[in-house]
Amino acid sequence: MAKNALKTVEKKTAVGSPLLDIEDLKVYYNTISGVAQAVDGVNLQIKRGEILGIAGESGCGKSTLTTALLRLTKPPAYVAAGRILFYPLNQQPINLLEVDGPDLRAFRWRNLAYLPQGSMSALNPVLRVKDQFSDVMLEHSEMSKRDALAMVPDLLKQVGLEAYVANMYPHELSGGMKQRVTLAMAIALEPDLLVADEPTTALDVHVQRVIIQMLAGLRDKMGMTVIIVTHDMAVHAELADRVAVMYAGGVVEVGDVRQIFKAPKHPYTRGLIGSIPRIGGERIRLGGIGGNTPSPRNWPTGCRFHPRCPQAMPICSQETPAFLPVANEAGSKVELQPLVACHLYSHPEAEGTSR
Ligand SMILES: Nc1ncnc2c1ncn2[C@@H]1O[C@H](COP(=O)(O)OP(=O)(O)OP(=O)(O)O)[C@@H](O)[C@H]1O
Ligand SMILES: [Mg+2]
Repeated sequence: MAKNALKTVEKKTAVGSPLLDIEDLKVYYNTISGVAQAVDGVNLQIKRGEILGIAGESGCGKSTLTTALLRLTKPPAYVAAGRILFYPLNQQPINLLEVDGPDLRAFRWRNLAYLPQGSMSALNPVLRVKDQFSDVMLEHSEMSKRDALAMVPDLLKQVGLEAYVANMYPHELSGGMKQRVTLAMAIALEPDLLVADEPTTALDVHVQRVIIQMLAGLRDKMGMTVIIVTHDMAVHAELADRVAVMYAGGVVEVGDVRQIFKAPKHPYTRGLIGSIPRIGGERIRLGGIGGNTPSPRNWPTGCRFHPRCPQAMPICSQETPAFLPVANEAGSKVELQPLVACHLYSHPEAEGTSR
């Protein structure tokens, strides 16, 4: 059996085991007006073979978090604290924040793939598509140029593109085609994890659907773990197994996608869900969330959502709520308990308050 096929079988067997453990991660930016605490204490576990959606309004720290996961944090950003444990197949976990130099480059391409926000413009304008592929593959694996080029039609097929696209230059491709080419390049070495940051934004509805189906297919076919970042809750509803909701640099709720949409716990999650039209149902009045997002240079005290929260209690401006498991609704078919950082669920003051 070919090496890649063997790796795929192993990965599929390992589905459900831990892949990443993010512990109290803090990523800050040095700016002239002070330190921006963009990611400020994120805790999150990600399993092999799952599709995790990361949701939250613009500026809440989604891209800062995902670039740190890929060790692509660059000045003025820096990792201020935390650990990112990665569990390779059949090996001891490693703290990604301690991998360095050439080891890091090799590790990243083999294990982690990244589709950055706005990645359509990341293609080299003077190279044909096939040469972009072979450059990446030669740099990060031991295969010959001939073998690399021979794989290109198949990789293009996996993202729904015809073989002739290999001979085209980026300027000859539509936005959706470029996005698919970048996706095919990202998965060429069959990494364990694909992180896609806003992969469907700025694409028309048809191409959005194609990209969503492809991401779901990668998990099914290769056992790949996918983290998809988008503020578009409809995309999460369609694609994700679990959703992590970020607010002001932290994760405020994580749960099974059905739980998040049917019984959101955190008042912020409820606001986010209220901000999209219901899929396949009647259009509901969009509730939305009042007020503005706070500045990462000066987070509100206690729960950072309290100035905008319709259910804020006195405790909320004083104490940071712990991130704790909360019981599911009676009769819920969702086994996984959601984790929520909200005083409504952890403080006696909330007794009798409508949750
Ligand atoms: N280069 C930078 N210098 C200073 N602050 C930055 C820089 N890049 C991002 N930030 C700040 O960090 C915070 C988080 O930004 P980030 O790009 O991670 O948000 P996001 O959730 O990905 O938003 P979007 O949905 O708009 O992509 C924001 O408040 C932003 O102003
Ligand atoms: Mg972003």
